[in-house]
Amino acid sequence: MSDHAYQQCINPDCAATYDVGEVLVSCPACDSLLDIRYRWSRLPRPTWTRFEQRWMTKGEHGAGALDFSGVWRFRELMPFYRDPSDIVTIGEGRTNLQDARRLAGRIGLKSGGLQLQYEGLNPTGSFKDNGMTAAFTHARMVGADKVACASTGNTSASLAMFADVSGMKGVVFIGSGKIAYGKLSQALDYGAMTLQIQGDFDDCLRRVRQIATQVPQLGIYLMNSVNPFRLEGQKAIMYRVLEARDWNVPDWIVVPGGNLGNCSAFAKAFGELHDLGLVERIPRLAVIQAAGANPLHVLVNEQGVKWNEGRWDQSARDELYAQDIKARTIASAIEIGHPVNLPKALRALEMMNGVVRQVDDADILEHKALVGRFGFGCEPASAASVAGAHMLVREGVIGPDEEVVCILTGHQLKDPDATVKYHTGIDMKAAQESAPQQPPTGRYANPPIQVEDDLAAIVEVLGGDPALVSTAQI
Ligand code: F0G
Repeated sequence: MSDHAYQQCINPDCAATYDVGEVLVSCPACDSLLDIRYRWSRLPRPTWTRFEQRWMTKGEHGAGALDFSGVWRFRELMPFYRDPSDIVTIGEGRTNLQDARRLAGRIGLKSGGLQLQYEGLNPTGSFKDNGMTAAFTHARMVGADKVACASTGNTSASLAMFADVSGMKGVVFIGSGKIAYGKLSQALDYGAMTLQIQGDFDDCLRRVRQIATQVPQLGIYLMNSVNPFRLEGQKAIMYRVLEARDWNVPDWIVVPGGNLGNCSAFAKAFGELHDLGLVERIPRLAVIQAAGANPLHVLVNEQGVKWNEGRWDQSARDELYAQDIKARTIASAIEIGHPVNLPKALRALEMMNGVVRQVDDADILEHKALVGRFGFGCEPASAASVAGAHMLVREGVIGPDEEVVCILTGHQLKDPDATVKYHTGIDMKAAQESAPQQPPTGRYANPPIQVEDDLAAIVEVLGGDPALVSTAQI
């Protein structure tokens, strides 16, 4: 389909390659994750000046729509598409790097030493739009018309909007009671079929992966970040950070970690920029997990697991995941116990000389309040990055004179309940649950559908024939 881009298994002992026209969420040969790779020597050489020039054309029709996008403005750095007409864009990625002077002092950094990348300013209010535009572009390239994801809320909101705009059918799987209302309201309003599975994110992801890979009768294209095209789009967050800093690399990138797609994408971005000679050095990475959802912290800091050039200790992960510890945190976006991108995150830590930390819920909420007081605000998971940066400054790992960029992944209005509860003590969620329930009467009402955590039941709700699902799969 394209001779300059291909998919490749990240396991160095396999390294099998596949065409970009194939729809894969793991390597068919060894089941490892996949990367998108480019033969850069066959491609026009990207330059920063070229990207900057696009600010002048962004309002025009045609290529102007791509130049308007904060993702596709950098399209030479993610050239997996066949033709620009494949690209599905909703004007994503027009986000903002703010100099957080007042907050910097509060967390022990010099004035000018802390910048906040407000990804909540995306069309659906989270960084997910960066990846979704790329994955929908691939979905369109391969002729998909039905897309699905499991989500803690933001991925589902983003998928729902992109599906609506691109005329595809969107299906989202969310854990029962596991999603902030702002996010649920988005998926419903954009008309996605919303399945509330009795379980959590990990259960939902397992089910939607089964549906996409083992139930071909449904023809569903998977939009979670095991889809390597998602991560191609998320690289753009780093390009915008650099652009806002006049292409000067900061000392640290600090990001919350859930399913560990974002941190993986950031390392890929910097690795490629370095190989292309567009940056001279690579910043350090800090991945911050919630203490109640901390598998990367446990494996890296307590068990010493390292990427080790791809020969990492998979049995340590398998043993941890087999314990089936349920993730629990106020930061529902990152309430994930079995992150699928763990190997890529280990690789990212190696590439970016990274560290991992865990922060507890109280710390997350205090730092969320500080971000709100001194800036545009963010949702709880996003504030984990600032809490983590603060912790690393206190430990002396981040020096007081270093330049730190924290990624604020989601908008403050995504989870107003957490904010109201913090400031007033009133638990809006509990209050809503005890209120009398009335069936919706609106003409366009799109209520969520409750389903058991059972493959045949899910297939039936999706309009498939449950009899065709083998009992082995259930
Ligand atoms: N911050 C927010 C606001 C998120 O929604 C997520 C992930 C993360 C951080 C973690 O990013 O998974 O790349 O490590 N949300 C996913 C979702 C899981 O379904 O919306 P990650």
